Amino acid sequence: MTAQLIDGIALSKQLRTGIAQRAAVLQAQGTQPGLAVLLVGDNPASQVYVRNKVKACHENGLHSLLEQHPASLSEAALLSRIAALNNDPTIHGILVQLPLPAHMDAHRVIEAISPAKDVDGFHVASAGALMTGTPGFWPCTPYGCMKMLESIGCNLRGKHAVVIGRSNIVGKPMALMLLAQSATVSICHSATPDLAAITRQADVVVAAVGKVNLLTADMVKPGAVVIDVGMNRNAQGKLCGDVDFAGVSQVAGWITPVPGGVGPMTITMLLMNTLQACEQASGQPAAA
Ligand code: GUN
Repeated sequence: MTAQLIDGIALSKQLRTGIAQRAAVLQAQGTQPGLAVLLVGDNPASQVYVRNKVKACHENGLHSLLEQHPASLSEAALLSRIAALNNDPTIHGILVQLPLPAHMDAHRVIEAISPAKDVDGFHVASAGALMTGTPGFWPCTPYGCMKMLESIGCNLRGKHAVVIGRSNIVGKPMALMLLAQSATVSICHSATPDLAAITRQADVVVAAVGKVNLLTADMVKPGAVVIDVGMNRNAQGKLCGDVDFAGVSQVAGWITPVPGGVGPMTITMLLMNTLQACEQASGQPAAA
């Protein structure tokens, strides 16, 4: 069997058309949705990520403010910038790019963001909302994965979904989103003794570890849906995910590529969350 591709670029394009339309409506009503992106230090990967986020804002009618600070910035100074942005009516979403320099407490920094502007969905208030099934911002990467599953008409009810990875950014929120759709969810991680025995039972596998060739063809049930959140460089320096794409695509029913899969969807959902924040700030009812 050769898997069908879940094309994150095509799906993003379609969703971004709707986002640009909603942004135009808000702007016509006098409020352009605005996202502040804060980068501390000179991590090259983070620089690429924030540049792509800012570019996506401009291409879809959102205003963006990029603040680049030296790694020597004090935590107090960063907290004071966040406080100012919390009170800035032109800014509806605040994103602090992670990782932060070692002298900063990332948890304290994230908690300083107003939950109403937490478009990354990392604040404890957002995590609690997801946990309890109440309205709130969902972290962009797992949210994008859910949109990809929806795009192929995957009904998760009663399916076994296996999430590999337990980060606060992807693994844990991903598991909660799948659970909310009535999947039976397993969360696997570095201490899971026989990963393959569990992934072989999966109707849906989400690989979010950051390890090349973590998931190989022998670990996948024929016809399964495979979502690859990994973003790695292989021995040849080529961008690749956690999934052995060549092998697994011979077994799976659906598969996401890297690049061109989850990556663009993460940015799309960030735009979606920023629109949602703006609509809520403008007193509009939440859109789907
Ligand atoms: N670092 C890696 N992924 C992310 C993300 O989605 N948001 C932020 N703020 N930092 C990240």
